[in-house]
Amino acid sequence: MSQTQREHWGSTWGFIMAAAGSAIGLGNIWRFPYITGMNGGGAFVLVYLGCMLLIGLPVMLAEFAMGRASQSDPIGAFQYFQKGSEIIGKCFAGVGILLAALIAVFSSNYGLAAVVALIALAVYRWGFTVVGFFCSLVAMLILSYYAVIGGWTLLYTYDAFAGNLNFANHDEAGKMFGQMAANGWLCTLGMVLYIGICAFVCYAGVKKGVELASKLLMPILFLLIVVLVLRAVTLPGAGKGISFFLKPDFSKISEKSILDALGHAFYSLSLGMGILITYGSYLPRNRNILSASVSIAFFDTLLAMLAGLAIFPAVFAMNMSPAQGPSLIFQILPITFNAIPGSLGWLWNGVFFVLLAIAALTSGISLLECAVATAMQHLKISRQKAVIVLSLVIGAFALLSCWSVADWSCFPQLEKMFKGLFGSVKGNFLDELDYICSSWILPLDGLLIAIFAGWVLGVGKCARELYRRGDAEPLTLSCSGNCRSKLNMQLSVKAWSLFVRFVAPLLTLLTFLYAVGVVKF
Ligand code: TRP
Repeated sequence: MSQTQREHWGSTWGFIMAAAGSAIGLGNIWRFPYITGMNGGGAFVLVYLGCMLLIGLPVMLAEFAMGRASQSDPIGAFQYFQKGSEIIGKCFAGVGILLAALIAVFSSNYGLAAVVALIALAVYRWGFTVVGFFCSLVAMLILSYYAVIGGWTLLYTYDAFAGNLNFANHDEAGKMFGQMAANGWLCTLGMVLYIGICAFVCYAGVKKGVELASKLLMPILFLLIVVLVLRAVTLPGAGKGISFFLKPDFSKISEKSILDALGHAFYSLSLGMGILITYGSYLPRNRNILSASVSIAFFDTLLAMLAGLAIFPAVFAMNMSPAQGPSLIFQILPITFNAIPGSLGWLWNGVFFVLLAIAALTSGISLLECAVATAMQHLKISRQKAVIVLSLVIGAFALLSCWSVADWSCFPQLEKMFKGLFGSVKGNFLDELDYICSSWILPLDGLLIAIFAGWVLGVGKCARELYRRGDAEPLTLSCSGNCRSKLNMQLSVKAWSLFVRFVAPLLTLLTFLYAVGVVKF
């Protein structure tokens, strides 16, 4: 697709806000603070920043460069670059088969070996285009369960302002959350509302929808978190929480915490699912990808740090115990905010859930937009049609996650099929889907994207895209005029090439093997 046909961001700031909106999500708020607290506080933050630099940024740059150079959705981006390099794809397919054999022999994990082998065969047959296909597919799958949690945040926002979150202890909080999650119809309402809002935004287009919404919502998100931080750190006894969150303890840094940091950096930047390829494709050619990427990673980390400073000082000041995930968000925090003296519990809860809803919505918008871009390009349909059809399909699929948490018994056949498929695992559909997507597909996609960018697409092409300014013939990396900047450029390209070719693939592979349990510490 040419530059003129494709809709573009109106400003670099809008692009940064949209990508930061995708990156900043539930992971920043319910996961990062807790794993930091448990893994050595400030020491872990340093490791995490290192991971951002080692794999986060290089892979992010690769995705943006692929998107902008091809001006395409994920599938189109892989098709565009693959031409002429089919042979490399076949070589990697061979390596994949070898890897599958090794996994089968050394870990006896035949399921994993079979998955790796299947992907390798698909790459052999269709080339790296299958990676693009998986990217868009996984975006839809993730949206289907993210929407259920997003729906909960909307319902809790309403409850906070209606004064319904006025419970004082764990039992009441647990009961309230349990009742909501078990009420299938209510959760369906929340989920439909959530997907509806995302659809509304995507329907309006890139500039008037996604960009406008992000430019409005992201500053509000930061404002709200600053308000909460100020409230939390000024509570008597907040110091304990700050020291739980940030006090450096290098003795807690182990191989395990490093891999946790790697996995989270990857997840937090929304890498590995083509969202950034899609967002990069809306970027005009005269914008600086490098500095925008640094800003995005910066905002993402900043919000995660602020979330920790809002949550733990309050939790410790009110003598609660820290946790992560839904129990932190839907139970511990509401009780904590209620316990703050001054009977403004409803307000603090309200502020917090609006913040959470914004974080969840901007991520959902990016997921839907990725799928919409793919459908528009490959099914040759209009944006409006794509948004409507995809929202309906994703919404229908989301019913599975929604009702598997609420009450399977409404769908006895489905329950049976699900138990048959995942017989040995205890969780519900939502948790299983989350596990499959974030532990398996995301790192695998990320690995393949890094390999593709570093080896197939070639570092030279990528670098020219990263340094391109404007529509003119991309600059050559030769010395034209300013030799000092040329030297800097060559150095950064060398560093980037080292990371994207070797470090990022090796580390993502390791994170993946760790996440699926082949590598253990
Ligand atoms: N980055 C999101 C977070 O920190 C989670 C996430 C991972 C995500 N991949 C995504 C969100 C893709 C939207 C789209 O919570």
